Amino acid sequence: MKLDKSKELYERARRVMPGGVSSFMRAFQKPIPLYIERGAGSRLFDVDGNEYIDYALAHGPLILGHCHPRIIAAVEQQLHRGSTFGCQQALEVQVAETILGVLPWSRQLVFSNTGTEAIQVALRLARAASGRNLIVKFEGHYHGWADSVLIGHRHAQAIRAASREKGLLGNQGQSPSVLQDILVLPWNHLEILENTFREHGDQVAAVITEPMQCNTASILPKDGYLRRLRELTTRHGAALIFDEVITGFRLAPGGASEYFGVSPDLAVFAKAIAGGYPLSAVAGTSAMFRAVENGRVRHLGTFNGNPIALAGAAATLEVLFNPAEDVYGRMRRLGARLISGLRALSSPEIPILVQGLPACFQMFFTGKKAIRDYGHYLAYDMSRTQRWSESALHEGIFQMGDGRWYVSGVHTDDDVTLTLEKAERTLKRLASDPAFSQRVASRD
Ligand SMILES: Cc1ncc(COP(=O)(O)O)c(C=O)c1O
Repeated sequence: MKLDKSKELYERARRVMPGGVSSFMRAFQKPIPLYIERGAGSRLFDVDGNEYIDYALAHGPLILGHCHPRIIAAVEQQLHRGSTFGCQQALEVQVAETILGVLPWSRQLVFSNTGTEAIQVALRLARAASGRNLIVKFEGHYHGWADSVLIGHRHAQAIRAASREKGLLGNQGQSPSVLQDILVLPWNHLEILENTFREHGDQVAAVITEPMQCNTASILPKDGYLRRLRELTTRHGAALIFDEVITGFRLAPGGASEYFGVSPDLAVFAKAIAGGYPLSAVAGTSAMFRAVENGRVRHLGTFNGNPIALAGAAATLEVLFNPAEDVYGRMRRLGARLISGLRALSSPEIPILVQGLPACFQMFFTGKKAIRDYGHYLAYDMSRTQRWSESALHEGIFQMGDGRWYVSGVHTDDDVTLTLEKAERTLKRLASDPAFSQRVASRD
């Protein structure tokens, strides 16, 4: 596999851009961050002419793959009408009505551009509605890169050793004062949740959670956990915020709230909402938006409700919500085929664990039956998965470096068949790589 052009571009990039990449996550791609020339449907093509079946989907947004003709047509039409106005447009109303139509628990929404921004909006709304400051978040859950929430992520074992509830900053340069306003708890532990509400219930403005722990290990909520979270937040006058940046429009038309049957007060959507264009939204109950209506909370942003992104969203949602397209049926079926096909490749020498849901799952090389919590996740030797991802890339499988797979509405049965053949070849190659086999053979 030739990567000469990508290598050359990466060298040049490192001279003019710190670390050479525009988002830290991209630096993890092995052997080097790839430079992509174009995408088409389920395929990606890099500048060296290599072709990949894409299961990273730009970290989730490309729910209808690359360059979906309906999205291109809608965006192209809008390009000729104008790129941004700083004024209201009919498209906003149309897209808002469409989204609220699949979220029966919500009444209104506001638009932003990225998941990170929209999370900040949701936290502000929850604080304004309750008049309280404290936010409860969970270890291993990622809610964007802003100071207020990049806390405890990937460091939570240390947190637990020191104090169950104090967070750790994720970065240098963050103001330590944000730690005063946040508690970081283990997820999926009812007892800890109940104790926290017993002690701090009258101070909690909101609990924010990924309804499925997609960012670390694709862990599902235990039976009844989200329902109990709903009961406790309601009883203590705190808002329940679902971070649906990954799960939104992916698990079901109405996202995780529909899939798990639990309604939050606020839900944050981004990624898949506009099929690859930068748009996010915070949907909520009327009570959550009262402060925006009367001007006590200001929702601001030059690019909020950008018409190009909204055109992308209108087309994406039209396809997603059209029963004749059966996007959700297809993602479920193909994802399930991939999961069972990958599991079937497991052997005593190279045990494979795949967990999650068909539309979004994660693959590990371990004899464990499940990775049940963030502690397990931290204990897992991620270098095994990174070695697999690099090797699979050579075969033409492009997935997230942490072993996460996203399935789109344009993957095909042939893609899955080909992918499983490629996966089998990758594993055969890895089996003869002593460094990989030894790592996998070492106890978890
Ligand atoms: C669950 C979740 N929330 C929030 C974000 C932040 O979104 P963005 O990268 O659009 O700012 C991400 C990004 O991966 C995410 O996975």
